[in-house]
Amino acid sequence: MLQSLLPLGVALLGATSVLAQDPPTCGLDKKCPKETPCCSQYNQCGVGAFCLGGCDPRMSFSLDSCLPAPTCKDKTYKMDSLDRYKDISEYLGDPSTADWVGQGEPLIYNGNTLLTMPPKSVGTVLATTTYMWYGNVKARMKTSKGAGVVTAFILFSDVKDEIDYEWVGVDLNTVQTNYYFQGITDYTQSGNISVADSYNEFHDYEIQWTPDQITWLVDGKVGRVKKRADTWNATSNQWNFPQTPSRVQISLWPGGLETNAKGTIDWAGGKIDWNSDEIKKNGYYYATFGEIKVECYKTSSAPGTNKGISYSYSDISATNNTVVDGNKPTTIKSLLATGLDTTKGDPAKDKGNAAQSSAVYAVPGGGVGTGNVPGTDKNEGSDSGSGSSGSGSGSSTSASECAKTGFSQSCDGSSGQVNGNDAVRVSGLGASGLAAFISIAGLLLL
Ligand SMILES: *[C@@H]1O[C@H](CO)[C@@H](O)[C@H](O)[C@H]1NC(C)=O
Ligand SMILES: *[C@@H]1O[C@H](CO)[C@@H](O)[C@H](O)[C@H]1NC(C)=O
Ligand SMILES: *[C@@H]1O[C@H](CO)[C@@H](O)[C@H](O)[C@H]1NC(C)=O
Repeated sequence: MLQSLLPLGVALLGATSVLAQDPPTCGLDKKCPKETPCCSQYNQCGVGAFCLGGCDPRMSFSLDSCLPAPTCKDKTYKMDSLDRYKDISEYLGDPSTADWVGQGEPLIYNGNTLLTMPPKSVGTVLATTTYMWYGNVKARMKTSKGAGVVTAFILFSDVKDEIDYEWVGVDLNTVQTNYYFQGITDYTQSGNISVADSYNEFHDYEIQWTPDQITWLVDGKVGRVKKRADTWNATSNQWNFPQTPSRVQISLWPGGLETNAKGTIDWAGGKIDWNSDEIKKNGYYYATFGEIKVECYKTSSAPGTNKGISYSYSDISATNNTVVDGNKPTTIKSLLATGLDTTKGDPAKDKGNAAQSSAVYAVPGGGVGTGNVPGTDKNEGSDSGSGSSGSGSGSSTSASECAKTGFSQSCDGSSGQVNGNDAVRVSGLGASGLAAFISIAGLLLL
């Protein structure tokens, strides 16, 4: 079915006009158009994977454009194999087929999963295929190191509630914690926890999340507590407290990429050195994950249940009383489908004519940061510091040979048969403090 993305292939062979447009962007005041109804976590409109994990119903064409989110499952993820990992270009929303989806270059080394970031790439991001609506999650891990290199372990909801652990690679004795409500950037809420040598030593980083409190624990010791009661926003009359089903997301991303906003680069400890000893020795930066354990919240009444198949939203306000734990299906038949038409492109039915589809935007690119990266004008030069990776990072695509402004040709210059490491990159978002990368990795592969 993916061969159907003919227009993209044609574009890569030279008809760049097809791709000369950036994917339509979306926001609270700018919903996606009907043809590309799903607003990805990188705030770009598309179909297929755009409608799965990270799809923001508030910014999409309609509340049901995004697919419902698979409910929480208790699970200990032994990170010693990639058997249960799929690239987002291969995933159609059924959590029985994969535990993790992502972009970039994860690999197995010594029984652990490494998230890698080769030179000039935008790193690697993995997210669980099921969502937690409160609960506990614990990661046994080691960070990366180096200026501009950011490791993240976060909970991230489709409406951009977020609970973070983040490490900047110039300070291996501190982990920064933060939380956000619906992506509202407020950098005054970060808090540091001391940790001994996050690069060389495994530590257990845990988030305990209830409707009333977030607790961050390192090696079993409480490092920080945030109570909902202390998050009242008198302007909006609501709690600025994470409260919606969230994926566990782990990532390694280049906060210090030179195209990022200055505030982001400063926060990340400076520009990335793609010639560092780390790169010379291994060929990439990496963070190491040994085990991740998810314990769903135990309650018999909402919020926080996990009785049904999926979570969806009944209202655009996307607060915890609008989350519906029900039995709506979570899958699509192809990367041309959306929540509005889940069977579009079904390879079983649609043989042959799918090429007419214009699904250029079927797989969202990983973006470096998603909206709450420091370094937007407001924040520039401020020392309020810690930013969120948001979704932090994305495809690992070697931007090296492809890094031109605007969309580039197929990077290997070959037949239009794009290999998994090729990328096109969109420029021009830097001004807003974001760098967006559109990955076409894998689009033409299958
Ligand atoms: C946390 O630590 C970093 C250095 O790693 C520092 O720049 C930042 O100001 C600290 N933030 C807080 C809230 O103390
Ligand atoms: C309170 O809510 C308003 C409206 O959503 C928002 O603009 C503002 O940033 C919030 N204040 C804080 C401190 O988060
Ligand atoms: C979530 O829902 C519970 C129960 O309905 C309520 O008491 C609580 O205040 C809500 N929390 C937030 C952060 O909205």
